[in-house]
Amino acid sequence: MTVTIRSRDLTKDFDKFRAVNAVNLSISEGEIYGFLGPNGAGKTTTIRMLTGTLKPTSGEITILGLDLKTHELEIKRQIGVVPDEPRIYPNLRGFEFLDFVTEIYKLDRKKTKERIEELCQVFGVNYLEKMVSDMSHGMKQKLYLVSVLMRRPKILFLDEPTVGLDAKSAKILKMLLQKYSSEGCTVFMTTHVLEIAEKMCTRIGIINKGSLIAEGTLTELRSASNRTQASLEDIFLQLTAEGEDIEGLVKEL
Ligand SMILES: Nc1ncnc2c1ncn2[C@@H]1O[C@H](COP(=O)(O)OP(=O)(O)OP(=O)(O)O)[C@@H](O)[C@H]1O
Ligand SMILES: [Mg+2]
Repeated sequence: MTVTIRSRDLTKDFDKFRAVNAVNLSISEGEIYGFLGPNGAGKTTTIRMLTGTLKPTSGEITILGLDLKTHELEIKRQIGVVPDEPRIYPNLRGFEFLDFVTEIYKLDRKKTKERIEELCQVFGVNYLEKMVSDMSHGMKQKLYLVSVLMRRPKILFLDEPTVGLDAKSAKILKMLLQKYSSEGCTVFMTTHVLEIAEKMCTRIGIINKGSLIAEGTLTELRSASNRTQASLEDIFLQLTAEGEDIEGLVKEL
């Protein structure tokens, strides 16, 4: 299997605070990798480094076999990134934004137009005439998803992609990600919805306080925790809550 995302000792310090600590990742073509962890664990920081928007303090990143330090543009052309809060120029209409993306990525106009039509249809994006500033949060998010998916990137990085989407759109997105992965696209996603990770991800990595503390398929994670029947939630809490008595904490409130 071709490894499409690799990091070695990936580390990020914000002043004296270590947000990401020596993370080693090796993710293969066609995988759906779920990157889980409590709030502030370092997921977004890791994604920002892997996608070239934040410079690591130290460590190596190889994407599609290319060193990110020396091949940043080439890599950015081939990957798609959906950040946790996508920002789109507010003064554009929906179709102008999609035209703009088509232009800067030098995409084939005819093919892209067809993909836009298909994607807009499945996601119910029937508001391309609207100004971005007049769109709701979920509407903007779907427009952004269309702008990324229409490029058919070889790797998709998604930071909590289902937050803010209605149930139908979330379901469609999950199905599309599975389809793209079966066609060879690598998916790297963060989520707090453990059920999504449990159902969709081929492998799961758990990060806590900047360090990758567990990794594997759900079966591997279960056997590592010696609990063959455990749900991902049980395993996740066992690993990240450090023995805190959650029920007791709630009772004391
Ligand atoms: N630009 C920054 N400057 C200083 N500290 C930062 C910066 N960005 C992130 N951090 C810190 O790094 C840590 C990891 O943050 P990060 O956003 O990666 O967490 P996360 O795992 O994505 O959390 P969440 O689940 O809440 O999205 C946090 O303690 C955060 O305060
Ligand atoms: Mg985050």
